[in-house]
Amino acid sequence: MNKFAIFAKKNDPMKTFLLAALLLAASSCPSPEPMSKLTERVFARAEAQFTALDARLPENKMPVTFENGEIKDGKLNGWTSGFFPGSLWLVYEYSGDAKFLKMAERQTEKLDSIVSMYTHHDIGFQVNCSFGNGYRLTGRPEYLEVVRAAAAKFSTRFNPVVGCTRSWDPGKRWDYPVIIDNMMNLELLMAASRLTGDESYSSIAKTHANTTMKNHFREDFSTWHVVAYDEATGAVLKKQTSQGFCDDSAWSRGQAWGLYGYTMMYRESGDSTYLKQARGIASFIIPLLPEDGVPEWDFNAPGTAHPFGMDAKGAPSPKKFKWKEGDPVLRDSSAGAIIASALIELSTYGDPDGLYLKTAEKILRTLASPEYLAEEGENGDFLLKHGVTNLHAWSGVDIPLTYGDYYFLEALIRYKNL
Ligand code: GLY
Repeated sequence: MNKFAIFAKKNDPMKTFLLAALLLAASSCPSPEPMSKLTERVFARAEAQFTALDARLPENKMPVTFENGEIKDGKLNGWTSGFFPGSLWLVYEYSGDAKFLKMAERQTEKLDSIVSMYTHHDIGFQVNCSFGNGYRLTGRPEYLEVVRAAAAKFSTRFNPVVGCTRSWDPGKRWDYPVIIDNMMNLELLMAASRLTGDESYSSIAKTHANTTMKNHFREDFSTWHVVAYDEATGAVLKKQTSQGFCDDSAWSRGQAWGLYGYTMMYRESGDSTYLKQARGIASFIIPLLPEDGVPEWDFNAPGTAHPFGMDAKGAPSPKKFKWKEGDPVLRDSSAGAIIASALIELSTYGDPDGLYLKTAEKILRTLASPEYLAEEGENGDFLLKHGVTNLHAWSGVDIPLTYGDYYFLEALIRYKNL
């Protein structure tokens, strides 16, 4: 008798009952949508939404968000300007459709004078997502030249005494602020070195990553948002927040930038210290994710299961911060997308219990559900709903974000390529 024999013998009431129960259980648990189908569905939606976005976009602008019924575009030198061209490159990569190649080229080339404009550390995001992806997919030498020139410009923000590139210029609160987000911009430097052979860029990136590892992280691998340095001595002056709930909280997107940044640094350098750091950050993030995987906007925001209250150090005044007891805690879909993309890459460097990939898949399934994925023609033609820009200042609350869309598509392509 073989192992399926339990179903083979006729007229045994117990066995008939068992078979019926099994069939009933199977029919009441529909199998989940295969990831390949889910990816196809999301990219079809992206094609429709982005075609509409592209058609209405002014020549001197890039899309940022959709808020209070209004589409908000940003200047070409704004920090988010590379994400729409980048998303178009990803749609082209997935579909191979020449229409999106043309669109991606046109939107990318709108940024071709970006290196000569006023620049900030985010020239990394801007150029790597647009020209970097463009070079990866077409091999055009003129795109590589923009990557190289942007890396050279970004390198001028490096101060060897501090050991970091300066994120923001001197302002009211800080003279030499370095934010965890800046880890993402190091990818431009690493790519420029890999592609040109000039190691001066990667050397800056590694020094920045090492200094950040030393000064930005707490023992549990959570990170402060802003570390302010004395540029003459390199001393750490303050550890604070700009966009998180309070100075000592764990702003979700900041944790996501850190996770992605150190995973990327391991890929580009092969230095296992960065892999260890990325795994540490993952071990902080994963247990704090809600059941559906999409993080609350700050892991310590009031209303979460975590300990801070409205009087926590560096918290916004209750006048500005409009959340009150009993309100839901907002999620940040962009942080979810960044975490998913980073975890998929991290899983390829070792994922013994499959936790990284399982978590990433859970996040992607939630983001692809109607709760998060916009219907065609809605959401200002962005893909993901429910992102948060800066709840600390109560600005950009529960909106789509161009970078959420970019990392969502990137994560799906990474998953497909596993
Ligand atoms: N890099 C800015 C932000 O994540 O909002």
